[in-house]
Amino acid sequence: MRLLTLPALLTLLVFSTALPSPPPSPPKSLPLLIWHGLGDRYDADGLHTVGTLANKIHPGTHIYYIRLDDDGSADRSASFFGNVSAQVAKVCEDIKADPQLARSLDEKGGIRVDALGFSQGGQFLRGLVERCEGLSVRSLMTFGSQHNGISEFQTCGSYDFVCKGAVALVKGNAWTEYVQGRVVPAQYYRTVNETTGRGSEGYLEGSGFLADVNNERSVKRGEYVERIAALERFVMWVFEEDKTVIPKESGWFAEVNGTDGVVTGLRERAMYKEDWLGLRRLDEKGGLVFKSTPGGHMDLNEEVLAEAFGEYFGPETSEKGARLMPQTGSVGYAPVLREQVMLVDESKIYL
Ligand SMILES: *[C@@H]1O[C@H](CO)[C@@H](O)[C@H](O)[C@H]1NC(C)=O
Ligand SMILES: *[C@@H]1O[C@H](CO)[C@@H](O)[C@H](O)[C@H]1NC(C)=O
Ligand SMILES: *[C@@H]1O[C@H](CO)[C@@H](O)[C@H](O)[C@H]1NC(C)=O
Repeated sequence: MRLLTLPALLTLLVFSTALPSPPPSPPKSLPLLIWHGLGDRYDADGLHTVGTLANKIHPGTHIYYIRLDDDGSADRSASFFGNVSAQVAKVCEDIKADPQLARSLDEKGGIRVDALGFSQGGQFLRGLVERCEGLSVRSLMTFGSQHNGISEFQTCGSYDFVCKGAVALVKGNAWTEYVQGRVVPAQYYRTVNETTGRGSEGYLEGSGFLADVNNERSVKRGEYVERIAALERFVMWVFEEDKTVIPKESGWFAEVNGTDGVVTGLRERAMYKEDWLGLRRLDEKGGLVFKSTPGGHMDLNEEVLAEAFGEYFGPETSEKGARLMPQTGSVGYAPVLREQVMLVDESKIYL
């Protein structure tokens, strides 16, 4: 596992500090939840630069940085160690207790927000959407996430003993209750039965998080289906040269055969055809968006983020599905370079 921090952003997202504060413009932007990745922390500069960008594009956006602990170093630790289900439950309670989020309500009294997840934070946010009653997410956006799990653990940096400790615990014990209750990446590790092409027996029985939130077990949770289908948009970004997430296509819910490397796109999979998770319903109303961006894992650039935030976050329009374009003139960031955002060429998924 490589540390999934956002160092590149620090150099890329350089703003003038003296931007004039734009006049408050109703309607108000929805608050934005941001969940960081493995080895990162909620108070990291790189992560806050992303929040700053979101605010430049949609002034007045309340950014809520999801954390498992107010102490940044303990929050980082919790990205390696802990029970993900318990973490998601805690985040749900924290969100409901936040006075500023409580001011953004939908017509049914749910807390109305947008959500942005980096790497593992993406599938955890999705779990939050599925499990957190009373949370009402409009746009869910994930970058380099592991929605279909990981089939391998990456090697850790030489001096990263926390990471090494986590990997050592997993070796040969991935499906034990001990590991599933404690090692975060193990809870989205996924192996496949070569005969059935579905999740392996060990995974289906033992997985502490992913098998449940992906509704892969025989008993499907109806509320997960409803909550995913109720999203307005679920925008999934894959980094084209991602070497950290194995396989990278996991970010689009694709299945990759570990022997011959053949990629089966989500739309060809049983989980879509039988709609275990509401993704098909969401897709049929135009809400499921597959995107890719050049570069390696978390190789984000300002233009891609600016365009994405402009399009999917910000104020809620009365007209459902209306696209909101960034107000380039008033906030002063570089013109959006549309050609940098490649829409997915489907022929690339089905090899
Ligand atoms: C993880 O936490 C959840 C919720 O608190 C609990 O139901 C589950 O048993 C825990 N998993 C393990 C493997 O300890
Ligand atoms: C894969 O699934 C088949 C059919 O259900 C089963 O007979 C077999 O034992 C499974 N393989 C493994 C390695 O668990
Ligand atoms: C993966 O590929 C191998 C080799 O082509 C094949 O034998 C195997 O059945 C495939 N597995 C699945 C689940 O399709």
